[in-house]
Formats: sequence, C-alpha cells, structure tokens
Amino acid sequence: MGVQEPEDGMRSRTRSSAIEVRCQKTFLIPVLQVDLHFIHSKTRHHYFDVISNCDVILIRYDVTDKLVMSGLIECVKYKSSAKSRMSPMFGMNIFFKKEFLQITGSFKERGARYALQMLSKEQKEKGVIAASAGNHALALSYHGHDLGINVTVIMPIIAPIMKVSACKSYGANVIIHGADISVSKDYAQRLGKEKGLMYINGYDHPHILAGQGTMGLEILEQVPDLDACIIPVGGGGLIAGTALAIKNLRPDVKIIGVESDQCPSFSAAIDAGKPVRANTGSTIADGLAVPTVGVNAFVTAKSLIDRMITVKEEYIALAILRLVELEKAVVEGAGATGLAAIIQGLVPELEGKKLVNLLERCLNIRVVVALCGGNIDTTALGRVIERGLAADHRLIRFVVTVSDRPGGIAELTKVLSDLGVSIKDIFHERAWLKSNIFNVQVKCVVETRDHEHAAELENALRKKYQQVIWGPWYF
Ligand SMILES: Cc1ncc(COP(=O)(O)O)c(C=O)c1O
Repeated sequence: MGVQEPEDGMRSRTRSSAIEVRCQKTFLIPVLQVDLHFIHSKTRHHYFDVISNCDVILIRYDVTDKLVMSGLIECVKYKSSAKSRMSPMFGMNIFFKKEFLQITGSFKERGARYALQMLSKEQKEKGVIAASAGNHALALSYHGHDLGINVTVIMPIIAPIMKVSACKSYGANVIIHGADISVSKDYAQRLGKEKGLMYINGYDHPHILAGQGTMGLEILEQVPDLDACIIPVGGGGLIAGTALAIKNLRPDVKIIGVESDQCPSFSAAIDAGKPVRANTGSTIADGLAVPTVGVNAFVTAKSLIDRMITVKEEYIALAILRLVELEKAVVEGAGATGLAAIIQGLVPELEGKKLVNLLERCLNIRVVVALCGGNIDTTALGRVIERGLAADHRLIRFVVTVSDRPGGIAELTKVLSDLGVSIKDIFHERAWLKSNIFNVQVKCVVETRDHEHAAELENALRKKYQQVIWGPWYF
C-alpha cells in the first residue's frame, strides 16, 4: 500500500486547529465514520438488527458531552504516552502508550465501555454476549458490572484459568465452550439470538471501533507533534478506530500496523482486497491471533494505514524482555509487537541518529508505540523471557567434543570461567560418538552478557577444540 496523500481540505486541520478546537472544549473528531459492510449479512450478526437502518455511523467525540464520553474519561483513564529510555538506542523518539495499565490490563476497555454505553435501554436490560479468550471478555465483564449490564462471555477451553476467574469475579456469566475461539463465537451468536442478547464482536462492532478510537485522541493530546504511530493488529478494531481519529486530525501522521508473521491476516486482506482467512501458526502474540480480520475494521482502516509489517516471533520475545528490563513494564506478546518491529529493524524510515551516550540529545522522529496489553501468564512470561534471552545471545547452546580422560571437562569449564561465562545446564554423552572412544560430547547451555561476549566464547572454543557445534539447530 502506498502512503496516502492527504487531501487539501484535510491538510488545513493541523495541530493548531486541533488546539483551537480544544480551547472550545470540544475535542473533536468531527465525524468518525465507520462503514457498515455487514449490513447484508444480518443473520450472522445480531447487532445489525439495531443499526441496519444506517449507512454510516456518525459519532461525535466531545469531552463536554457527559452522555457519551464521561464514562470513558472516568473509567478508561488516560494512560500516559511516556518517552522511552530506549529512544537513543533506536535513533527515534519513542513514546509508549501504556494501555497495559488499564484496570483489566488492555485497551479493550475503551471499546467495551463505549459499546455498552451505546446500548438501548432495552438492550441494557437484556444484557450482552461475546466470545473471547481474553482481553475483550475481561473488559466487557468489568464494565458490564460497573454499568449494571449483564454480560455473558463464551470462552474456549484453552482460555487461561486466570482470565476465566477474573471474568467470573466481575460477575459475568462465563460459559466455557469450544476447542477454539471460532467454535465459541458460533455458539455465542446462536445463544445471543435465542436469548435476545446483543452479540458484541470485540474487533468489528462499530461502537467497539469508535471506542478504540479514543486511544488515538489521547495520543494526539499527549504527543501532539508525533510523526508516526505503530499499532498492533489482530482483528483490526484498534487500528481502525485509532487511525481514523489520528488521520482526521493529523493526516500527515504515518500509521503503521504490525502483525505476527504467524498470523498475517490484515496483510492478507490487503493483498486480497477483502478479509480472507490467513494461514496461521501458534504465536506468543495470542491477542493478535485472529485468522480473518473484521469487515468493518478492514474497510475503515485499509486506506488509513500507510504500511503493514509482520514481525518474527523471536523479536516479540525480545521486545517483552526489553520492556521488562528497561521500562520495568510487563507487556503481553500482542502488546509488544510494535516495539518488536523497531527492534527487528523493520521501520528504517523512522530511524535517525542513534546515540551511544544516552544523555545526548537529538532531534529525531517522534514515534508513538502502543503497548496495548499486559495480560501474560506468569509461566508464559518466564518462557518468553528465556526465548528473549536466547534471541539476544545471552542464552547460548553449544556442543563440544572434549577428551574423556581425567581433566577433560575441567579444561572446558576453565575456558568458560576464564571468560566469565556461567553454565546453566551441562551434560555429556558417550554412546553415540563415532570418533575416538576416549572422547566425550558435552552439551552446554550457558549465560553470556551479549552478542560480543557470545562471539568471544565461540572463538575461544573453536580455537581449543576441533569439533564445536554452535547454536540451537543441533538440538
Ligand atoms: C493486547 C492486545 N493488543 C492488540 C490487539 C489487537 O486488537 P484488534 O483485534 O482490535 O486488532 C488485541 C486484541 O485482542 C490485544 O488483546
């Protein structure tokens, strides 16, 4: 996709006019248009019974409008867009939008709260239903409880126990059904129809898109002179709402969407010109694992996104590790993919001068990266950190053949200790060796400081031993 050239009329809506608008206490998206492309498939989506008369939904954001926004402002509190200490490392001014700090741990509260607020009185009395394994379920359950609206969530059997219990603790009616989310979704839609509960799709309901758009408004308020915004993409709801908000006010801001290469469903939709089912694998970014993006989300976002990027899993793990170590932030895989794209070097157009001295100042591009969720199981976090360490060359595996005579292994451990390398695991094998029977093969997992330290170790081993197998492929 090419970069969208703003039209003349849009160019005039620059930062100064945004400020002008705010002075009148009307923080504005004049109109947030969400095309309704599901209208013809009423049978599948319960909510079209409610909005099928509209061709376009027009939503006006107005901070003075207590009816629409007060709940969002009070409950989905502004989360900071703080400048990251990592900025100099990557040659750009990075501002993290810290959505993982929301009460239920993700941006999903924005859309959930707004969709619940926009229900008719009758719908509020009946309640709503949704299918989700995680963040959408948590957000709906919490805000449903807060607004006194009954929420039923259908969660697949693979949903983490912690999330199931949290939804229950917010008073939601939790039904575990389906081996995966698509089965849960079918069931939720059927049950919704049967019981008259409105089905709320977590990434495609127009009010969900609109609610997520408030993240874009906050970003513009907090980093008014931003140049680019990097947003993780699953079903497409977050990027659709946010891009719409930002491009309305600042058409010159680049919007970059990021997916895991294990689930590139938005990129596939762009290639096909419509949502299609993408080939998927398992991913650390489970929140982005939506094989087919939403139709409303796609139609709304496709012309607003300047570039889609897919990142590798190891960089997502590395991003999680960097956030823990350098930002003291616990962020889940889906939430860390924006930083992963930067670490993987996939946004060279945003890079400026990289600084070695972190106190130096430079005038680089200002990039907002949405850290949109923090719900990661502690056990998964442990495993991901190990993968991040491996990707960072701080956890190394190698196999070396040494003498089996007394002192052979002691020599090896001396090489390691002389270099300050610490051993995590070590074991040796004799039976399958084809060489000299007085040799033994030693498999090691060791901790090194960084890439250079690991390279130093590899050189030392190759210098001393004839047979060294370096790296993870051996195992
Ligand atoms: C933490 C997190 N980030 C990003 C996303 C992607 O949002 P969307 O599905 O609206 O594209 C999700 C979706 O669940 C998520 O949980």
